[in-house]
Amino acid sequence: MCGIVGYNGKEKAVDILLDGLSKLEYRGYDSAGVAIRDNKKEIEIYKSKGKLLNLKDKIKDKKLNGTCGIGHTRWATHGEPNETNAHPHTSNDGNVTLVHNGIIENYQELTQKLKRHDYKLYSETDTEVLTNLIDYYYKKYKMGPIDAINRTMVRVRGSYAIAVMFREYPNEIWVARKDSPMIIGLDKNGTYLASDVPAILKYTKNVYYIDNMELACLKKDSVSFYDLNGDEINKELKEIKWDVSSAEKEGYEHFMIKEINEEDEVVKKTLNSLIKDNQIDLSQTGLTIEEIKKFKQIYIVACGSAYHVGICAQYILEDLTRIPVRVEIASEFRYRKPILDKNGLVIIISQSGETADSLAALREAKDQGIKTLSIVNVVGSSIARESDHVLYTLAGPEIAVATTKAFSTQLIACYSLAIEFAKVKNKINKKEYKELIDELQLIPDKIKTILDNVTEEIQRFSSKFSHIKDAFYIGRGLDYAISLEGSLKLKEVSYIHTEAYAAGELKHGTISLIEDNTLVIGIATQEEIFEKTISNLVEVKSRGAYVLVVTPEGKDVKKVANATFYIPETNKYFYPSLTVIPLQLIGYYMAVSKGLDVDKPRNLAKSVTVE
Ligand code: F6R
Repeated sequence: MCGIVGYNGKEKAVDILLDGLSKLEYRGYDSAGVAIRDNKKEIEIYKSKGKLLNLKDKIKDKKLNGTCGIGHTRWATHGEPNETNAHPHTSNDGNVTLVHNGIIENYQELTQKLKRHDYKLYSETDTEVLTNLIDYYYKKYKMGPIDAINRTMVRVRGSYAIAVMFREYPNEIWVARKDSPMIIGLDKNGTYLASDVPAILKYTKNVYYIDNMELACLKKDSVSFYDLNGDEINKELKEIKWDVSSAEKEGYEHFMIKEINEEDEVVKKTLNSLIKDNQIDLSQTGLTIEEIKKFKQIYIVACGSAYHVGICAQYILEDLTRIPVRVEIASEFRYRKPILDKNGLVIIISQSGETADSLAALREAKDQGIKTLSIVNVVGSSIARESDHVLYTLAGPEIAVATTKAFSTQLIACYSLAIEFAKVKNKINKKEYKELIDELQLIPDKIKTILDNVTEEIQRFSSKFSHIKDAFYIGRGLDYAISLEGSLKLKEVSYIHTEAYAAGELKHGTISLIEDNTLVIGIATQEEIFEKTISNLVEVKSRGAYVLVVTPEGKDVKKVANATFYIPETNKYFYPSLTVIPLQLIGYYMAVSKGLDVDKPRNLAKSVTVE
């Protein structure tokens, strides 16, 4: 999705803007642009289609000494990716210059309004409409930027984060948002704005979170905030805990493999935040024992990989707590008028905390008066701020589009909830509780063992198999849940068609697709259903499939496996944390073997802030 960065201070803005935009590249984009202003001189705008490199080339010989500017990477929604549609946009006479993330839903109606007032539109974007609308209100009421932006916010429908410069207000950048992320940073060299933390992390860790329907004015050494009435409001400066290095590649070829290799560490960090003196400690969430006791139903709502975490969690939570759990894709949940139990808990899982459908699902739950808990990685994100309770995963910034380390920390969050809820509901005794906690704390070392032991093997396997057109992932129970994630990982980064099936479901149709050398990856960790999964693998093998099995050490799968990746043994509930590592590595190395842009797969964006 689109990215915004801005700077106003003592340094040359162009360097900070280009550096910030490069940190946002991972989000996916198809054009980029900057607007830079040197005090009272006219704003200079440069844009180009394609990679940021094109923009850099275009401006390399320009003398851009301005110390105030805004930049943007655009992911086309309204209108094709070209220079005219790229941001920044200006109003007809250049009075207003603006960059925008999000979508203006009523842009057609606003276009008519502007045309009636003799505005001309040159691009196909909703952003140009927004820019001219601000200009219209600015000139009509002559009450300055706060009034013009506020009137515009009341008039437009949709989601937006905007950064605006006014010709008559040099050395000021104006910011506003609704349902699209934006943070504002401050240090001794100036003020910063960004739609995503990594863009400014190198410069400052001190940020303000601007809320929906609020406005900010960034001067060279201060930031002021205003509400919709135009009244000034106070905000607290917060510190971001992420390391600068976690948003850099640090010698790795891709962010994805760097992030896979960080999994043992981030899982440990997340565990340490949730286990104190060998007891699960959910105090960070604010959930009380009395509240937990009352939950009669749990709904887990999420998208993509986070939804797969939800499916894993469903098996574990139901089994351990005996509370019924329902898992739903957020884009379905939000529109199906769900009937929710008043004594229920809605859990939203989201790395970014900004996924539009997950945010809408959260609001639906809140509208129905149901308690909400979000499992979120990005502090201060919309989902985190709007939930009743928040459990933060400590994965740090995740840059590769395909999630890996955040997924693993989300699993840890779910295990912790399941164990604690089971304890509060008296479904496990002290001994069982202790055994679960002890085993849980061994997960980071086991992840490290897998990374050390199987990476090379998987590299070799992937280079042999990267030509394939299809692959199937099968398993039962939690192994099925993790098959869904393995399948998504492979298809999204390697563009190989894959499907995940509950092993027992295969013979109800899909088995007809199995032919000589079709790759079938079987996950077999769950003792009670192990033999059944093996039987399903025998069935596909006898129809010509090449069978790869992921299974705990000591398991004899020789009769069925053409190849095997072994993982350490663990408690049955925690296998997803181990099996997912080889599956993520398969996705990564298959894509590398095909020479693909692993960190930025085609058509995908890191955080899906539009429907
Ligand atoms: C897949 C992937 C996506 C996200 C999904 C939800 O590798 O990253 O499927 O899991 O878009 O995103 P968040 O977790 O930010 O809500």
